[in-house]
Order: sequence, then C-alpha cells, then structure tokens
Amino acid sequence: MSLKAATSSSLSVPVNDLPPDSVIFGESFAMQAVREKIERLAGADIPVLVEGESGTGKEIVAKLIHACSPWKEGPFVKVNCPAIPSALLESELFGYEKGAFTGAYGTKPGRVELAHRGTLFLDEISELDPSLQAKLLQLLQDGRFCRIGAQEEMQVDVRVVCTSNRKLEQEIKSGSFRPDLYYRINVVNVQLPALRERSEDIPRLVDYFLERYNQQYNGQAGPLSPQLVRRLQGYSWPGNIRELENLVKRYVVLGTEEAISSELQGTTQDPFTADVSLDEPIWLKKLTRQAVRELERKIILRVLQATHWNRKKAAKMLNISYRALLYKIRQAGFPPKNARRQVGEAVASEVSAD
Ligand SMILES: Nc1ncnc2c1ncn2[C@@H]1O[C@H](COP(=O)(O)OP(=O)(O)OP(=O)(O)O)[C@@H](O)[C@H]1O
Ligand SMILES: [Mg+2]
Repeated sequence: MSLKAATSSSLSVPVNDLPPDSVIFGESFAMQAVREKIERLAGADIPVLVEGESGTGKEIVAKLIHACSPWKEGPFVKVNCPAIPSALLESELFGYEKGAFTGAYGTKPGRVELAHRGTLFLDEISELDPSLQAKLLQLLQDGRFCRIGAQEEMQVDVRVVCTSNRKLEQEIKSGSFRPDLYYRINVVNVQLPALRERSEDIPRLVDYFLERYNQQYNGQAGPLSPQLVRRLQGYSWPGNIRELENLVKRYVVLGTEEAISSELQGTTQDPFTADVSLDEPIWLKKLTRQAVRELERKIILRVLQATHWNRKKAAKMLNISYRALLYKIRQAGFPPKNARRQVGEAVASEVSAD
C-alpha cells in the first residue's frame, strides 16, 4: 500500500506526555495491553481497526494513535460514515470536479485528499455503502482515487484508522461488508474492553472526570463515598465510559450523591441474580459455575489491587497457595505484568505433577 512512506516505528509522543484530555488507561490488564499495542503500532504505516462497544473510547483512541504517530503534524480528518447520507458520502470522501453533476459549480476536494500526510479517520465503517466500500478498497490498495467527474486518478499519502461498534466479521457473514476490505483495514486490531470488564479502573476514571468537570464548571464536588464507588464498580455500564463521564458531570453540577445514586438502582451486576430467560433451557450447574467464577475473579482482583499485585501477599490474604493463585489469575484472564512466564511454568508443573 502506498498510503504513506513508512518512517520510524518509534512514537513521536510518548503516551504519558499527552494532554490531560487524553486516554486514561488505568491498571486493568486489558487496557495495559491496549496501551502497549498502541505504542507499538502508532508509528507504523499500517491501517488500524478500533473495535469496541459504544462509549468505550474508540474515537479518543483513534486521536491518540494520530497524536503518537510520526504524522501528528498532519491533519486528522474524521468521516462519520452514518451521519453523512450515502448519496453525499462519495463526494464528501473523494471530492468532485466542476460540472461533475448538477450543482457541482466548482471543484471540491474530498476528505481523503484533505487527509494527505495525516490520518483519515473512518468512524463506524460498517455503515459504508457497498459501492463506496469498493472505492475505499482501491484507496487502501494503492493510495489512488478519482474525484467524481475527474479524468485522472490522484495519489494520496494517508494513514487510515477505522472504528466499528458492530462486529465486522458478523457483517461479513450477513453479506453487508466486503471481506477483502475487512482484511485491508484490519491489519492491526485494537479491541477496547467494555467498562464492566475493567471495573478496577472506575475509581481512577471517576477522579479524572471529577477533576476535569470541577474545573470546567467551577465546581466544588468532593470525592465520591467508597460505598458509591463500589456500587459504580458493580454496575453494568451499557453506555460505557461516556455514561460514567455523564454521571460524574451530573454529580458535579447537582452536587449530591443522591442525585446520581438513584440512577443505579436495580441495574447492578450481581452474580447471584436469577436473571435467566425462562423461554430457553436452563443449565443450572453451568450458570452457578459461571456465577461462582465471576465472584472469585472479582475477589481476587480486589485483593491483587490492595496488594499492588504482590502475588505472594495476595495468596496469603486469600488463604490459598501461591501456585493456586497463579493458576486462578491465569484462568481469570489477567496475568500480571512480567508474570506470564511464571504462570505458565506453575501451570505446567501442576499439570506434570498430576
Ligand atoms: N479511556 C478514556 N479515558 C478518558 N475518557 C474517555 C476514555 N474513553 C472514553 N472516554 C470519554 O468517553 C466519551 C466517549 O468516548 P468516544 O467517543 O471515544 O467513544 P466511542 O467508542 O467512539 O463511542 P461511540 O461508539 O458511541 O461513538 C468521550 O467523551 C471520551 O472523552
Ligand atoms: Mg465514536
């Protein structure tokens, strides 16, 4: 792909030195992995697909990738695919020549052109019309495109970052997304976790938004009570970080915890709720096993955080063996930094001892 001359794979801006309204990664294993991935990919001349539920931070991550790239001095051009009517999207993307269609009184460059030597950010790409998917594929293949009504092709140098909150693989199965385009845009995939999967980061995010909105609204709102923070950590957050951000904003403006805590009623995630569909077969053993595993995961996480991920101390607090803890950490899917090898060895030796 001749989108951009690859220069260096190093970051132009270290993630830590970014402005205050940038991405809060927190301590969760999932977000640490995202951070490491961004650090590795930001400087490379490859398209990136950022996936995640609504409100998980796809756009803010796309901007971070741009800000950390060697092309950060270039433009960051956003195309909100669902917001632009499909009849207009082609001219918005690729531009047009004078007289190309009724009403084309002058020549207009498209956003692809405007993104030259910068980042073209295609937001919610799953909404793109099939005919435009084909044109975009060509752009990704050789950096070439044609303004509507133009005789000659143009060449641009752009880094493409796309997002989707729908699983594109499913869209391919249903026939609404081209697999060849998917492989082109999905050279590197950044999967953002839902907020409920990174509940350990909620206190950090709350502090961040509190400070930000106290400043913005000249507010005096103090820290949330530990009980409320715990409730926030148990909530399911269908709107993810955007929902949390708005809740903190309301707290700053309204000034009392009561104003926001009532919103959380009846919606807490509780591994022991009997929230099962009675229309389908119920596998009692499987469901209770899942609930117990989820509860165990949360307890282990809380203790690991309290011990700053000191696994020996954590095992002692939990009254289980060190090896058993390593095994459970791995089972829960959050191996601590630098411990993956040890976890692997512990599990291997457990297996060989059996
Ligand atoms: N990790 C984060 N740190 C700080 N703020 C965040 C983070 N993630 C998201 N936000 C904030 O949450 C809001 C939603 O983020 P963003 O628009 O990037 O989400 P999105 O995944 O693109 O959502 P949608 O799918 O609905 O478009 C923004 O105000 C953003 O600043
Ligand atoms: Mg978005």
